[in-house]
Amino acid sequence: MAARVLDGRALAARLREEMAPRLAAFTQRHGRPPGLGIVLAGNDPASEVYVRNKLKAAGEAAFRADLERLPATASLADILALVERLNGSDAHDGILVQSPLPKAMGAGAQQRVFDAIVPDKDVDGFGAESVGLLVQNRPKLVACTPTGVMELLVREKIPIAGRHAVVVGRSDIVGKPMALLLLHRDATVTICHSKTPNLPEICRQADILVAAVGRAGLVTSDFVKRGATVIDVGMNTVTDPAVAAALFPDGHPRLELFRKKGSVLVGDVHPGVADVAGAMTPVPGGVGPLTIAMLLMNTLRAAEARAASHARA
Ligand code: GUN
Repeated sequence: MAARVLDGRALAARLREEMAPRLAAFTQRHGRPPGLGIVLAGNDPASEVYVRNKLKAAGEAAFRADLERLPATASLADILALVERLNGSDAHDGILVQSPLPKAMGAGAQQRVFDAIVPDKDVDGFGAESVGLLVQNRPKLVACTPTGVMELLVREKIPIAGRHAVVVGRSDIVGKPMALLLLHRDATVTICHSKTPNLPEICRQADILVAAVGRAGLVTSDFVKRGATVIDVGMNTVTDPAVAAALFPDGHPRLELFRKKGSVLVGDVHPGVADVAGAMTPVPGGVGPLTIAMLLMNTLRAAEARAASHARA
């Protein structure tokens, strides 16, 4: 039997609807909408797409969103100066620096930049203070992708407490905060990564399996316990015909799409997993739209909290 589809696009639309009255109240009360400053350094093609989608979603939802671009040759000092300006801006409640930063900025640059964002505006939740608060289970602003996944699990009534959750991937952006959020909901959590020797065996123990590694179709049916919930965070553009053919059977509409366009967007989970899983997020239309909805939610929360703290001052 095919797994129940966990529709991230539909939930994202519902979250935007739920946000609308709060957004309107803020805008009316303060004479301006909540504002998001997005910093994009260089022109990584995937980042260009992500940022375009974030700007579009913010605009459609009647947030203010400003794109601040820096050339790939910008220095760390340039980007820190830009963040400093946004930290001091009254029109901006949230700041997002799109990662990855250009390689020339050096290995430690990314975290230095995230840490330079004032915690009250850290809508990505990647700064050291935001992460520390999450570790201690007194979160303020938490990374958008894992918060979106939790929202989906809770609203779809997937049991979490006492269940075994396996997170594949240990990134600061998804894997680590995802594991912490599941832990704080009383799941028993295992984090797997590229050095885990018996990956399929551990994944098969999962009631909730989250794949966040960035490898097309890595999670195949033999990784999945019958009836498990499978969350696919992967966004991989496949251009190799052999890889596309290994993911989709002949005649599948996605394979036809690949043949027409020369590329297809796929997750970390092989589509065949739908025959084993109890519930599963699609790609596209699963976690991606939720990430953007949670970014808007974090921006609204940051705006409300900043306004409340100004009112107290
Ligand atoms: N790069 C890939 N995903 C993200 C994200 O969620 N936020 C930022 N800032 N950069 C990213």
